[in-house]
Amino acid sequence: MKRKLKMGLIGLSAAFLVACSSSGDKLTIGTDAAYAPFESLDGDKIVGFDVDLLDAVMKEAGLEYEIKNTGWEPLFIALKNEEVSAGISAITINDKRKKTYDFSSPYFESVNMILAKEGTSIKSAKDLEGKKVSVQNGTTGQEALEKMFGKNENIKKFDNNTLAIQALLNGEVEAVVADNAVVQEYEKNNPDKKLVTISDKDSFESEFYGIIFPKGGEHQDEINKALKKVIDDGKYTEIYKKWFGEEPNVDVLKQ
Ligand code: ARG
Repeated sequence: MKRKLKMGLIGLSAAFLVACSSSGDKLTIGTDAAYAPFESLDGDKIVGFDVDLLDAVMKEAGLEYEIKNTGWEPLFIALKNEEVSAGISAITINDKRKKTYDFSSPYFESVNMILAKEGTSIKSAKDLEGKKVSVQNGTTGQEALEKMFGKNENIKKFDNNTLAIQALLNGEVEAVVADNAVVQEYEKNNPDKKLVTISDKDSFESEFYGIIFPKGGEHQDEINKALKKVIDDGKYTEIYKKWFGEEPNVDVLKQ
């Protein structure tokens, strides 16, 4: 009888501890909120497709979280140091990153694209040769240019994509290379800037975004399961339509 009571108490306090630690600590998810329509600041609120998707996924997984605007390169450092549990930031899944980080399954297809001023002579990626082009430092846009032309001083690297676009507006560079949805969104929202977007599917490869995790981190399985659920049950489609005004092709995410 006495022993039973003791065991019961131990059980109860263990359950109490578990309950406290899971409701007490929210997971921190990092992002670089300068990449509309995926993540950007509206006042001091972070908004975007990624933000809504993350919210749906975390609700599905039953995980409490807060999203933190870490910036781009600091996000990767924070992941390495496990200061954040995950990141969502239009991050392309690639082999180089997979060496250091884990990824969810793909949630968005993307490709690099050129943004330039109206009247530009640039028609394709090869026309960027010998021209000053801005990119966000440490992105696949930078990588694509370096692969085509080698590392060189015409590739101007900026901490975020807003600064890379600013360099185009200032006339410091002739073009920006960044993800297609992002440059198209900028062009559409800024008709006064008189910009054009130039696609080149031969030079720029198709990429897929994933949620990124510290290697061997704790939460990837539950988050990945929840992501699959959100894609399958139509919530993903709803969020996609809200931000892109059209139906997604979810089949490309399942290959
Ligand atoms: N998809 C590109 C990459 O992974 C660019 C992502 C930039 N994201 C951002 N939030 N600034 O390299």
